[in-house]
Amino acid sequence: MKPTLIFFALAGLTILPALAETAQPHAPGIEAKDYRWNEPSEALTRALEQKGDPEKGKIAYEGCRGCHKADGSGRPDAGYPQLAGQHAAVLIKQMIDVRSGHRDNPRMHPFIEAEAVAAKDIPDVAAYLNGLPVPTSNRKGDGNNLERGKTLYQRDCSNCHGNAGEGDGKKFYPKMASQHYPYLYRESLHIRDGQRRNAHMTSVKTLKTYTDEDIAAVCDYMSRLPPVGN
Ligand code: HEC
Ligand code: HEC
Repeated sequence: MKPTLIFFALAGLTILPALAETAQPHAPGIEAKDYRWNEPSEALTRALEQKGDPEKGKIAYEGCRGCHKADGSGRPDAGYPQLAGQHAAVLIKQMIDVRSGHRDNPRMHPFIEAEAVAAKDIPDVAAYLNGLPVPTSNRKGDGNNLERGKTLYQRDCSNCHGNAGEGDGKKFYPKMASQHYPYLYRESLHIRDGQRRNAHMTSVKTLKTYTDEDIAAVCDYMSRLPPVGN
């Protein structure tokens, strides 16, 4: 074989797996008039009905550790959230929203799409992550505006995310306590500015009244709430 052909043959080998990954689909979100953030799709309903097996979930989670780490503590500098201890239903909804394209996450999509994770593995992964202890070494904010953060949180966020940041799995409200500050900050900006397309409209409307400084204060407060159990 000529050297150029060998080159193309080798290049082809590396291109093929890339082609096998499908690009993340785009599904309508908050920008669509009749969008329902918690639409009980078939995939979501089926996943919620299945009892998750944490042992199997541990195995299916192997492909996720590179970003979210083995203990589920995430990587604050890269914007990867802490997943340990999060409500199983919240984890399930987010995984399904990334698969369907209701939540944009092109970086993670190849690892969670149907080719990588079977639908029946999703509740298992959620059960595994939900059972991991929440690390308290999460990244906090600068601590300069905590009183303001507390006032805003208790006025505008605690009715859904809970006084102690415990969220509510049955309603898909995420747990906030001990989540990384940089992740909370970026997601809040995304919710306010329309980039978190699977958001709850009430939180979009509330955050639209916030400056970047208000968001920093409330996220700093949330990141310092001590871990809460299930
Ligand atoms: C290439 C890095 C990467 C890999 C691999 C990855 N993720 Fe993610 N994941 C992310 C990023 C980045 C976010 C935050 C996205 C955003 O900002 O909206 C995220 C968010 C999530 C969320 C939402 C958490 C929340 O609080 O809303 C869940 C659940 C999740 N990932 C589960 C998984 C699972 C399960 C796997 C493996 C099957 C996985 N991820 C693999 C990068 C990754
Ligand atoms: C009406 C209920 C409601 C209120 C009020 C609310 N949120 Fe939320 N919030 C939600 C829901 C539901 C989600 C998850 C949406 C989804 O399915 O992606 C969420 C997600 C988030 C997330 C992303 C968490 C993650 O793990 O990905 C952040 C950050 C957030 N909210 C911040 C706030 C802040 C700050 C306030 C107060 C200013 C607030 N929210 C008020 C319901 C609410």
